[in-house]
Amino acid sequence: MLTAEENELLTRVTGDAPMGQMMRRFWLAACMLEEIPEPDCDPVRVRILGEDLVAFRDSDGRPGLLEEKCPHRRASLFYGRNEECGLRCLYHGWKFDVDGNCTDMSSEPPGTGLVEKVKAKAYPVKEWGGFLWTYMGEPATMPEFKPPFFAPTPQTNVAIFKVVVNCNWAQGVEGAIDSAHSSSLHSTDMPPAMVGGSTATGTAWQRPSTDKSPRLQVQPTHYGFNYAAIRRPIKNANTHDYVRITHFVAPHHVLIPPNNVYNVSQMNVPVDDEHHALYILAWQDKGPGVDQEAWRKFTGTQLGIDLDKTYRKIDNIGNNFGQDRQAMKLGSFTGIRGFPNQDIAMWETMGAIGEREKEILAASDQAVVEFRRSMVVFVQEFMKTGEPPAQFSDEERASVAAFEGMVAKDADWRDLSGAKRESARAAE
Ligand code: FES
Ligand SMILES: [Fe+2]
Repeated sequence: MLTAEENELLTRVTGDAPMGQMMRRFWLAACMLEEIPEPDCDPVRVRILGEDLVAFRDSDGRPGLLEEKCPHRRASLFYGRNEECGLRCLYHGWKFDVDGNCTDMSSEPPGTGLVEKVKAKAYPVKEWGGFLWTYMGEPATMPEFKPPFFAPTPQTNVAIFKVVVNCNWAQGVEGAIDSAHSSSLHSTDMPPAMVGGSTATGTAWQRPSTDKSPRLQVQPTHYGFNYAAIRRPIKNANTHDYVRITHFVAPHHVLIPPNNVYNVSQMNVPVDDEHHALYILAWQDKGPGVDQEAWRKFTGTQLGIDLDKTYRKIDNIGNNFGQDRQAMKLGSFTGIRGFPNQDIAMWETMGAIGEREKEILAASDQAVVEFRRSMVVFVQEFMKTGEPPAQFSDEERASVAAFEGMVAKDADWRDLSGAKRESARAAE
């Protein structure tokens, strides 16, 4: 259980809130590249850490991320004209390039020198792995951009879905590190089966276990933590355990155990204190990747069908998330279609900011407890020293890999790092 003060520290990200200030020390996903697909495309609103921005791509194809309000008299640049290498404010026609330089001020007489002085607030951006990344901290502390786990090379083909969720970011992360819920909430989409490991079919992820109460073991790291969820397998239960290892990398990245076809990752990027952008990614280290539309269809996150054009769910709390009680009588555990929608229904009904001071935690919440503990320690340290948690080194990176598979009962999952995990899986 967290105190109300610790809950505030964990969850609040806007303004001067320490967690938001700490998150500004990381490269964050601002939006997907598909939202700004081509030169002079429509600008898009981006709200992140409570700050309203506008993303656009100029005539030369360069992406930009500017404060939404025009420096002149604060009208919205979202409505601006994106043309001839800049975003032009509709109100008086001031125009800004991707670096925030004012390149035209047609409302002013020439020779005042104002055009050279005015600058729109612009954040640095980087295109990689299907996302526009940005750094919102002070330029002096900007770390080198490191490719995310799900896109080690610029060519990695990543399937992404995005949903804007109406609750605080930490509830989303807690969902990703809460192995026990999958045996209940997702039991229709992740059913037990006589398989060797998690197996993706076109409609489900089959699990080699009927065990609904995994034992959790946590291993802290300097950048977050790992944990194993250990279950009794259907086959060879006397000699083996079914082990799923999940990694949490601060501030909001979770590497979820893979299935036989692809790896899965989750990011919960704060929009503000009471909303976040959920991204779940399916990718392959080697191979052609996962088809984006098939991924969205499987997860019930297709634009125009499940989501409106701002990536908000069409089935939402206003219609009980489309819950179908008749389907529940006929075998669906939740009556809610698509596993992310089941998660979102639970996260949003916990309230805009979860009431952690009122919870009753149990053994299966051990990873959730570790997430809160580690983030509160990280942010308290940040308040004292001004330093965010150190990221993993290039050498450590290989060991930051989720895993699922059968592990002999006399082996310790903590020894199965990196390449050893790969070979354990290959030997199944
Ligand atoms: S408010 Fe934007 S140009 Fe005047
Ligand atoms: Fe879930």
